[in-house]
Amino acid sequence: MRADVIVVNMLRGIDILLMIFVVYDAGSAYKILVVFPIPGMSHAILGEGYVKPLLEAGHEVTYITPIPTKNATGNLREIIVSSNFNIMQTEQVLNIEKILYKKIDLHDLSGIMYLAIMLANNTGLDGNVQRLLHDPKEKFDVVIVEWFLSEVLCGFASVFNCPLIWASSMEPHWMALSIIDDYLNPTYTADIFSSNIPPYTFAQRIVALWSHLKNAYKKWSVSGVESEIYQNIFSSAGAERGRTLPPFSEAKYNGSLMFGNSHVSSGQSLRLPQNYKPIAGYHIDPEIKPLQKDLKEVMDVATHGVIYFSMGSLLKSTQIPDTIIRGIVDVFAGLKQTVIWKYEEKLHNIPKNLQVLQWAPQQTILAHPNCVLFITHGGLLSTTEAIHFGVPIIGVPMFGDQFINVDRAVNKGFAKRVDLDFETPVNLKTAIEDILQNPRYKEKVKTLSFVHHHRPIHPKAEILHWVEHVVRTRGAPHLRSPALHVPWYQKVYLDLAALMMALLLLIYFVAITLYTSLRQEHVCQHKKLN
Ligand SMILES: *[C@@H]1O[C@H](CO)[C@@H](O)[C@H](O)[C@H]1NC(C)=O
Repeated sequence: MRADVIVVNMLRGIDILLMIFVVYDAGSAYKILVVFPIPGMSHAILGEGYVKPLLEAGHEVTYITPIPTKNATGNLREIIVSSNFNIMQTEQVLNIEKILYKKIDLHDLSGIMYLAIMLANNTGLDGNVQRLLHDPKEKFDVVIVEWFLSEVLCGFASVFNCPLIWASSMEPHWMALSIIDDYLNPTYTADIFSSNIPPYTFAQRIVALWSHLKNAYKKWSVSGVESEIYQNIFSSAGAERGRTLPPFSEAKYNGSLMFGNSHVSSGQSLRLPQNYKPIAGYHIDPEIKPLQKDLKEVMDVATHGVIYFSMGSLLKSTQIPDTIIRGIVDVFAGLKQTVIWKYEEKLHNIPKNLQVLQWAPQQTILAHPNCVLFITHGGLLSTTEAIHFGVPIIGVPMFGDQFINVDRAVNKGFAKRVDLDFETPVNLKTAIEDILQNPRYKEKVKTLSFVHHHRPIHPKAEILHWVEHVVRTRGAPHLRSPALHVPWYQKVYLDLAALMMALLLLIYFVAITLYTSLRQEHVCQHKKLN
């Protein structure tokens, strides 16, 4: 056996030992409710990333999701909220043509926040979800809820009277962190969906402050609606169990822990509270599935390397206008490399070095040693996988956090950004040449890949550890940030400032009064003397 194969097998052995240890240590199986309401493939992958290791460790999982889990084994019960797809109406909300002609503002937080609240509402009011909530026999040891711009679904923990764990699908930013700790300082942290990267210039610092304040106001302004939806979904179920639910304004700050799909290798090194656990990469199986035979042959013989091109699963690249598609095909035709393109339809007249696949095993392709470049929309899963497998990227961002993901990757030095417009083919060609000729991109991504892998414990094992910790310590109160109990005006010492102002005013008035009365006396004496 080759040495590297032996090492890999040993590592797998350790992994299995670790799992057994965790299960043994848990002593008993827990009843866990996992809620991932967003109807998108990447969110489903992130949800399954929790469900599968919990099942493997022997726990009993109830999973509320719009997308059924494939190949799950163990004690799993699913509640499929497929009607969430009607809310999203992906084709209408996210449409490449609209993006191309700038008909929608994709940095618009209000729209996405509204969508998130509607999805939470639809999930909570689903018939089967309501039956679960109203069944007095249903009990859970812990609830894991995806945090995606809204806290409405914290109510599951209120109804089942058990600890709440947030699963944040994005890089940490003030909006997520403020529900377990505090707002972040805008002078050195990027706002949600902002493309500016610290250190900031004076102007950028002002923009950052304005953007934080504006978005904090937007978030605050929907809290009334969220509170109503929370009551509407959960209060009757609580009442049936003889409990008055805590108000939304308290329940939403009652998370024991937040898992974050983030890591310093792909994001910023932020100041994080004790109960935030960065576990990016947890959705990637340590054991890579083998490539199907024909694809393996294509990749094995590509002596100049393979370029993998995928625009993700939410947007369909078939919506890209034909002229751009033909332009991109022509660029690929001029390359020595083999190109694998995940494209939902058949393409005609394609060059020999281009393979079009309707579905592609992304992780397995990226793991192949001949994969030299990944052209991606820049979703957080894709940028994380690029770092995990050490492949430089060209990002073509279109939506939400993709802009900031790609800009961060560019800033970290393993990526180039190309925007989607009619200039895309030309710009893509330049970017491909630059990345393939300049070794610095590859070197940089290999360094980050090392950072990504070099952790004391695998993120899957970390999930099992912290879930167990929260259950066994009844909500891990010792991990809560004291910042949650301090009102904002006290944090900025506004009360002290007010006191100082009052004192200064007092001194001023006392001085004035003394002065005038002394003066009057003086005037009187003067008159008497005369
Ligand atoms: C907060 O969560 C704990 C369990 O972690 C629970 O006992 C408590 O009642 C909850 N409080 C509120 C206000 O939701």
